Amino acid sequence: MVALAAEYGTPLVVYDEACVRAMAAAYRDALVATGVGGEVAYASKAYFGRAVLRIVAEEGLAVDVASGGELDAALRAGIPPGRIHMHGNNKSAAELDAALTAGVGAVVVDNAHEIDVLEARCAARGITQTILLRLTPGVSPETHHYISTGQVDSKFGFPLAEGAAHEGVARARRSPHLDLVGLHVHLGSQLLDLDVFPQAAAVVADFVREVGPEGLAVMDMGGGLGIAYTPDQKPPPPAAFVEAVAGAVADAWSSRGLPVPRVTIEPGRSLVGRAGVNLYEVGAVKDIPGVRTYAALDGGMSEMLRPMLYGAVYSPLLANRAAEEADATYRLVGKHCESSDVLVADARLPHVRAGDLVCIPAAGAYGLSMASNYNGLTRPAVVFVRDGHARLVTRRETHDDLFARELD
Ligand SMILES: Cc1ncc(COP(=O)(O)O)c(C=O)c1O
Repeated sequence: MVALAAEYGTPLVVYDEACVRAMAAAYRDALVATGVGGEVAYASKAYFGRAVLRIVAEEGLAVDVASGGELDAALRAGIPPGRIHMHGNNKSAAELDAALTAGVGAVVVDNAHEIDVLEARCAARGITQTILLRLTPGVSPETHHYISTGQVDSKFGFPLAEGAAHEGVARARRSPHLDLVGLHVHLGSQLLDLDVFPQAAAVVADFVREVGPEGLAVMDMGGGLGIAYTPDQKPPPPAAFVEAVAGAVADAWSSRGLPVPRVTIEPGRSLVGRAGVNLYEVGAVKDIPGVRTYAALDGGMSEMLRPMLYGAVYSPLLANRAAEEADATYRLVGKHCESSDVLVADARLPHVRAGDLVCIPAAGAYGLSMASNYNGLTRPAVVFVRDGHARLVTRRETHDDLFARELD
């Protein structure tokens, strides 16, 4: 890390390629082992850098995209369009057109309005598009409510209550331009407990019994497996997640006499989160006697928004003095003009000095993909390391990049 910071500067995001590959292979092999068939699709919202998209595709994964921009990222990375799933709760007509032009494997339809728009776009082209319907199953996982999506009160998906999902299935089945092949749910993110999957599977299987299983050969259970941001968090491994999810679907469907569908899963965070670390240099250290000590880093909320967005906690270390005892407490802050620009509220570290390198592990998911240029900060460079070698995959932004869109 010290050598990488010297060569590429800070803030720097470093990904361990072997870790991404190992996680992708673990998911892939575990799904094959269940025998239910289906796909592992990387949820590219976690980080849609081209290098990572290529790696997960090389490991045999499909890719989920949630906007026209992510779709373009996947296409530019060379992902076969048939292995791309198009998500989004408010896809524009232009985004749907782009998905149809590319020939994506499936559009995951979120609401009745989207059925209208997609049907019209397909009719205009004289084509039929494979779709899944996203349902809101009405189960609430144990996670922060900002990253919980499966509960009734959600902007995502067709609610099962009040008949909206029934009507959605009926409409899709009537349409000559939509080929409904399955259903989709995503319950929430950073899940450390898998109990919610049997609950959700039971609810959806009841729904399938009501609407009839004809044509519903795919059950997409979304992503959500958590990672350890702190030493006390103990997430299950990917194989346990896959077994729990596929097992829950197999049990729920077979116990109701329904044919067991293929199971798709969509991990994002757990594929890339642990593989990525953020590296910062310490600048000002400010001690307020009897109150606290602040250590300011050379980045902040512009590339690491999760702590401010939903109170995410990280466990940093000093890269240049990692073996020294962590006997002091610091509030690690960024350089933005916001008091909320706190990356780690109470970091236990060795005595920190200007010039030290702070390394924040488990920063590979929902970091760069949420990055901004607030305060005119340039977004960090990204380096991938493998077998002792580093390669720069994204250069640091420049001030010219910042102003490239200004016309007047
Ligand atoms: C539809 C869908 N699938 C997959 C994911 C990925 O979730 P995670 O990164 O928790 O695995 C998300 C995340 O929000 C999602 O909305």
